[in-house]
Amino acid sequence: MATTASVIPANVRPEQVFAFDIYADPRIEDDVQGSYARALAGAPDIFWTPLNGGHWIVKRYDLISEIVKNPAVFSAREMQIPRVENPPFFIPLSLDPPQNVPYRHVLMPKFSPRAVADMEPKMRAMAAEIVEEVAGRGACDFVHDVAARFPVSVFMVLMGLPVDRLHEFRSIADEHFKARTDAEFVVTLGKIASIFTELLDLRRREPADDLLTYFLETEIEGRKLSQDEILAMCMVLFLGGMDTVTNVTGFSFQYLAGDPALQARLAADPSRMPEFAEEGLRMFGVIGTPRLVVEDFDAYGASFRKGEMVLSALWESGRDDRKIPKPQRFDIDRKEKAHLNFSTGPHLCLGHALARAEMRILAEEWLKRIPAFRAVPGTRHGFRIGTVIALESLPLEWDAA
Ligand code: HEM
Repeated sequence: MATTASVIPANVRPEQVFAFDIYADPRIEDDVQGSYARALAGAPDIFWTPLNGGHWIVKRYDLISEIVKNPAVFSAREMQIPRVENPPFFIPLSLDPPQNVPYRHVLMPKFSPRAVADMEPKMRAMAAEIVEEVAGRGACDFVHDVAARFPVSVFMVLMGLPVDRLHEFRSIADEHFKARTDAEFVVTLGKIASIFTELLDLRRREPADDLLTYFLETEIEGRKLSQDEILAMCMVLFLGGMDTVTNVTGFSFQYLAGDPALQARLAADPSRMPEFAEEGLRMFGVIGTPRLVVEDFDAYGASFRKGEMVLSALWESGRDDRKIPKPQRFDIDRKEKAHLNFSTGPHLCLGHALARAEMRILAEEWLKRIPAFRAVPGTRHGFRIGTVIALESLPLEWDAA
């Protein structure tokens, strides 16, 4: 990935420039979110990096919140850094209010806390089965064998996708998150669209109790959804539901593997699992959300100009010491749990209740069967950074019964 520096625009003051490569900065280490916070410690709360076409980065909790809640200036219609000629279009993510609202209303009932609670027994059975498969082995790659399988299986059952195509779907999602150019996006989005076109045809012939059938039957403002609208909704669910839970769970377990006291405490008292999941989310945010400046705007000491891109580094929000005392410490007993890793405002993640339930259930089912475990010494875990942060592998071992 070429990361040549661009000319600094006249609206950016010299003290606002801090070179940072969101795709390959050499300061990012295995402790990804921690090293991010250290690398940006000397940067202003809002700064301009000349790399990747030149763009703003926002790292402070309060300012991120202001930006994502101001779609009249910071539009979600383009979310690629550097900008591409034909940006992907997702529903409701690429639509600013009020256009996004009816689509959120279509999705909300399917992701409400009630709907998630109804799915819990099924999710628990899936998690138990996945953990059972590895428990007797005494070792596994947690990312590959567990964290990548469970959320993707849940998502596929919810959508009505064939579970035997799990690895194919996951590798398309991986390809998409590595894409940078127009040509690469065309390829990955084309693959996703053709999968859903095929599956929607099937559901037209054979309706089932799943999300694809719901999209085909539901009405919005007195009319059925068009094929293009359904595909644009499937895209965001596919990309949002496949990778995020896997990544946060992977990083949370990477931490837990090194904290035997917390393992013992959670195994003895599973009622504390929601706090473990929430603390994992706060510490290990994986999404940075880009916005396009659609009108000139002077605020927060910066002069944003139309056409510039702004990246809200959501993973920094949970590590802001003006919001959270000792933010670099993993502490399930802490009172302040603030983070914006599900964003806020018009695009607040619709899957947050599902994601929280998945992380909690998987940790419960794991610790029931594997109450003490550790990272395999001497192994590198690997990571990918960008607008989505991913952990690539996590070899764990334990004393199998
Ligand atoms: C830990 C896991 C997850 C994280 C950290 C996460 C994070 C996010 C973030 C930050 C956004 C907003 C992006 C923006 O403001 O530009 C978002 C939107 C969204 N997420 Fe999630 N997500 C997670 C899991 C899920 C799951 C499991 C689903 C559903 C299967 C889902 C569905 C969505 C949808 C539909 C949107 C678009 C909302 C809109 O534009 O109105 N997410 N997610």
